[in-house]
Order: sequence, then structure tokens, then C-alpha cells
Amino acid sequence: KIVVGLCGSIAAFKVAGWVSSLAKAEADVEVILSSGACKFITPLSLSALSGKAAHTDMFTGVGDGAMAHIDLGRDADCILIAPASANMIARLASGMADDLITTAVLAARCPVVICPAMNPNMYSHPATRRNIKQLKTYGYTVIEPACGAVACKDEGQGRLPEWEPVREMLASKLLPQDLLGETVLVTAGPTREPLDPARFLSNRSSGKMGYAVARAAQRRGAIVHLISGPTAQRQPSGVDCTNVETASEMYEAAMAKAEQATIIVKSAAVSDFRPEVYSDKKVKKDQATLHLDLAQNRDILLELGTNKKRDQIVVGFAAESDNIIEEGRKKLIRKNLDMIAINSIRSNNTGFEADTNQLYILVAARDEPITLPLTGKDHTANLLIDQIVAFKN
Ligand code: CTP
Repeated sequence: KIVVGLCGSIAAFKVAGWVSSLAKAEADVEVILSSGACKFITPLSLSALSGKAAHTDMFTGVGDGAMAHIDLGRDADCILIAPASANMIARLASGMADDLITTAVLAARCPVVICPAMNPNMYSHPATRRNIKQLKTYGYTVIEPACGAVACKDEGQGRLPEWEPVREMLASKLLPQDLLGETVLVTAGPTREPLDPARFLSNRSSGKMGYAVARAAQRRGAIVHLISGPTAQRQPSGVDCTNVETASEMYEAAMAKAEQATIIVKSAAVSDFRPEVYSDKKVKKDQATLHLDLAQNRDILLELGTNKKRDQIVVGFAAESDNIIEEGRKKLIRKNLDMIAINSIRSNNTGFEADTNQLYILVAARDEPITLPLTGKDHTANLLIDQIVAFKN
């Protein structure tokens, strides 16, 4: 349950898009508009985007026993004030409770995230600097505005930040910080094994699962290194990324990063074989059939599992089509893993390219697999991390 408080700024239009993104991500969003915000954007627009009547007034419904000014703050899991005007920041800093936003914040016991957006001179004024410092002493998180041209044509720091870092901050406020102090190495996506300048061997991995694991680990407080084969996924914000192409490049990158990792999650679909000979000229179709010799790539996970450091947790993935639990168990033992996440590649809802997944998790020294529900890959990633945290403790 997220309460979004909007103030009077042209940037309120951008925050309307944020509200829409939160509602699409199935957050329960309550929007409060200050009187200044209502000059720029209507409550009706925000009601349509959030799917709930937007709030503007402190006393609406009080006669019926409803207390919006208390209930909104008290029931929230997180409050986002964006765009936060200089005036709102000053009122929050001094503890005023003279409208619905300030009252909801005072009544809240949840994390409060503030995104200032204003003219750069107003932002750098000592009064605003002092007020922001004061807000931080209350434990509120202030996301610094971006630099550039603002609506009034001045240049400097004062622009509303992009949605992605704000979304990540909200996610980290809503999730347990149980990976603080951990360094997590994640591999994701397919590898490509070149055959000639035009062609390569690869597989259907989209990288969605590995990127979801990297994002979830970062949101739960870990330092995350992501090693990725070629994918169409966006680089997760706050994650250190290394892009590779071949299994051999992934091997080198993984070995270099493994040393510092306390947890390794190997979700990449590494090509088991590569063309034995690379032709630096395009292979022509002047023969009826073509015979390709393939050489086996090194098994990165096998090497990481075999050389596991003390207290390091190594988690593998297994993409299986038949006897999936038994095949997964063989890999868990052979590669000396602590845990393996098995998914069936037979169903359209699990495994390669799907937005959803359903994992069976086998933990070393435990016979029965843990069956996770069929759900979105972001949720699956968090459920997998729950199991890693439980194993660690
Ligand atoms: N893996 C790896 N290096 C390889 C091949 C696989 O690190 N050269 C890792 C994958 O990242 C995954 C796990 O091993 O975590 C299992 O991969 P999978 O393709 O299911 O199994 P393989 O070990 O390749 O065995 P097979 O293809 O015979 O099922």
C-alpha cells in the first residue's frame, strides 16, 4: 500500500506516469494532491490512473467516521512525496499538519521517500538545504533531483529524477534488507558461440529470470555483480554489469568476480558446445550438407561448486524436459551445489522466454524439493532469495 503525495509543480505530470506504473505493478495506490498540485493536474486524472478516488481534503468523510488524514498515513507501507515543492519540504521539516499530505506523513510509521523538484536557486537556497537536512534526521529518504534545464528555463539541479531509481528505492523500502553485507554474483542470459562472421550457436534464454534475481538481490540490500550474455533486458539500476558473448568470456568474467562473492546464482543458459573451428570467412552453401564439429565448453558452475570458498553459497539452475527432479538432483550432487532451482522447459509458462516461472528447489542434504508457485519472474526471484536466506541462517 503506497501513498503518493503530489505538490504543485509541472513535474506532477511525470508523477502521474509513476502512479500508473505502480498501479500496473499491482500496488494499492492512494493519491493525495496538495492544493498546488490541483492547479497543474486534476484529481480525476489521478483517480483514473490509480483506480481509486484521489484525495485532496483533510475533512472529507470525517462526519461518516472515516479519518482520511490519519488512516492514509497509518495504513501505508510506504509514502512517496513527489514532486516535493520547497514549500512542502519546509512544512514537513517543521512538523506542520495543515493539509492532508503533511498530516498523513506525521501519522505514518512507514518509510517516507521524498523527491524534491523545483527551481535550482530554490533548491540550493540555505533554507531548503537546512530543511532537507532536517527531513533526513527524521529518517526520511531524500532522492536528489537531477541536473539540467527546468521548466522555468533555468539550468541546474532541480529536475525530478527518472522513475527507475525511484522505483528501485520504493522496492527496497518494501522488501526486507536481509542481504545487507552480502555480495551476490548472478549470471544471466544465453551465450553465443560464433561459427563465422554472420552466424552463431545459441539458445532461447531471454535473461528474464537472471535479471529478476539480480534486481531482487539488489533491492534486498546486496552488492550485485551481473554477468550477462546478449539479451534485450535493461541493465538493472545500481547493479554492476559485465556483458559477455561466449561461454569462454562468461567463464573468465565469472572466475574474476567469484572471489568476492558470498552468494553465487548461476541462472545463465551457457552453451555446452562451441564450433570447433571458427571460419573468419562466411561459410558458403556450396555443398548439399554441412558437417559441424563441436567442442565442449568448460562447465562454469561445476568449477565454482568444486572450488567453493568457505561459507560461500552456490546456487545452480537446471532447465529440464523429463524426470526434472531427478535430473536436477544429479546436477546438485555432481556440481557440489548448495541449492538448485529446477524448471521445466516443457510448459509455455515456465523457463525460456516466459514472463512467469515455477521452480522446484532442491537443497543439499534435504530429500524433498520445495515447490514454488507459478508466478511472475520478479516474484519467483524473491521466493528463491527467501530460500537462500533461510539456507544461510
Ligand atoms: N552451466 C555452466 N556452464 C556450462 C553449462 C551449464 O555454468 N558450460 C550451469 C548453468 O548456468 C546452470 C547449470 O549449469 O546453472 C545447469 O545447466 P543446464 O544447461 O541445465 O545443464 P548442463 O550442466 O549443461 O547439463 P545438460 O545440458 O546435459 O542437461
